[in-house]
Amino acid sequence: MRPLAAIPLLCCIAALVLSFLCLFAGQKKNFMEDYNLLTLNTSRIGTNLLNDTASTSSSNPLSNLWHNITNGIENDLNEAAGDLAKALGIDDFYSAHILDYCYGDYTPTNLPNATVSSKDIHKNVTACSNTTAMFTFNPTDIVQRALNESGVDVTLADLDWPADIQKGIDTLRVVQKTVFVLYCIAIGLIFVSLIAALPAIFSSGRMAACLNVMVSTLGFVAIGLASALVTAVIVKGSNVVNKYGNEIGLEAQKGGKFLALTWAATALMFVTVLVWTFETCCGHRRRQRDAGYMPKHG
Ligand SMILES: *[C@@H]1O[C@H](CO)[C@@H](O)[C@H](O)[C@H]1NC(C)=O
Ligand SMILES: *[C@@H]1O[C@H](CO)[C@@H](O)[C@H](O)[C@H]1NC(C)=O
Ligand SMILES: *[C@@H]1O[C@H](CO)[C@@H](O)[C@H](O)[C@H]1NC(C)=O
Ligand SMILES: *[C@@H]1O[C@H](CO)[C@@H](O)[C@H](O)[C@H]1NC(C)=O
Ligand SMILES: *[C@@H]1O[C@H](CO)[C@@H](O)[C@H](O)[C@H]1NC(C)=O
Ligand SMILES: *[C@@H]1O[C@H](CO)[C@@H](O)[C@H](O)[C@H]1NC(C)=O
Ligand SMILES: *[C@@H]1O[C@H](CO)[C@@H](O)[C@H](O)[C@H]1NC(C)=O
Repeated sequence: MRPLAAIPLLCCIAALVLSFLCLFAGQKKNFMEDYNLLTLNTSRIGTNLLNDTASTSSSNPLSNLWHNITNGIENDLNEAAGDLAKALGIDDFYSAHILDYCYGDYTPTNLPNATVSSKDIHKNVTACSNTTAMFTFNPTDIVQRALNESGVDVTLADLDWPADIQKGIDTLRVVQKTVFVLYCIAIGLIFVSLIAALPAIFSSGRMAACLNVMVSTLGFVAIGLASALVTAVIVKGSNVVNKYGNEIGLEAQKGGKFLALTWAATALMFVTVLVWTFETCCGHRRRQRDAGYMPKHG
């Protein structure tokens, strides 16, 4: 019997659950949508072009659309800006997950004002895309499809959509697919670590502990690598969008909750490796001492 082995067993169970949640968060509309990789805020898209286009002639379809919208409201530019995204058929936000993306509108409004502070603004998820195994988040594609479906005569070029966003996202495509594969491998290895820990609780041999060191180290490396790569995707992705997209009203927010989830799973596997290593190195001697065996001197 090895009571200390209960710690890695519990850690493996928790790490397994957390890794599953990383993979499947946001798979459905109401299932952990706030655990996203990043949120693309498109609610103000095209707003800063309005000053230019409104003054120029009606050669740009965006200004036509703008004139049609402002005819009704006229005075409140901020309110009309939200309507511009709506008129283009673009939702307020798009949030990326490992397997899909979700979209919807900010409620009660997309911009804080005197009565509505930024804390009061919540996401109202409309729906999520179909889940795909090797999903890659592609803002250009999403916005293009929204424009196509809304039937307005506005193209990405009219919105001054920066090509650099696509270039930046393209470099992340392979990494995003690798992240998915790594999470699958990590889940498999953590599960094996969990199974391997069961007999090691009852057998006090050093072999069992040593085997567990090897299996749990593999699991730790897999989930650690997945976490590192997904962190790179999140940081690089939101930096690219904010660097090139801010001037056309795009904004990206890093998914802090997802990062906490994946690094918590990694930390749990690290604890597992530590405990098994301790058991391998020191457990044997301790058990001998417990059994009354003391090395004789002289
Ligand atoms: C339009 O230009 C005016 C003055 O140049 C500025 O105060 C205003 O914020 C601009 N509006 C937008 C939507 O950029
Ligand atoms: C603006 O409104 C006019 C008349 O209602 C319509 O013919 C035109 O197609 C609209 N333009 C856009 C870009 O929606
Ligand atoms: C703030 O936005 C809300 C929701 O659109 C609106 O009801 C309210 O009147 C706005 N407040 C001000 C001061 O503009
Ligand atoms: C969320 O959006 C739906 C329609 O898409 C609407 O019926 C519902 O009232 C919204 N919820 C909130 C809290 O605004
Ligand atoms: C999503 O899946 C449903 C049912 O499986 C299918 O009817 C629909 O066309 C799919 N949507 C997309 C965008 O692939
Ligand atoms: C949008 O429409 C254009 C042409 O109308 C087409 O070339 C493009 O593939 C479409 N994009 C999407 C994402 O549907
Ligand atoms: C969305 O982005 C705009 C700027 O592009 C920002 O002013 C606004 O506060 C953002 N909305 C939310 C809910 O983050």
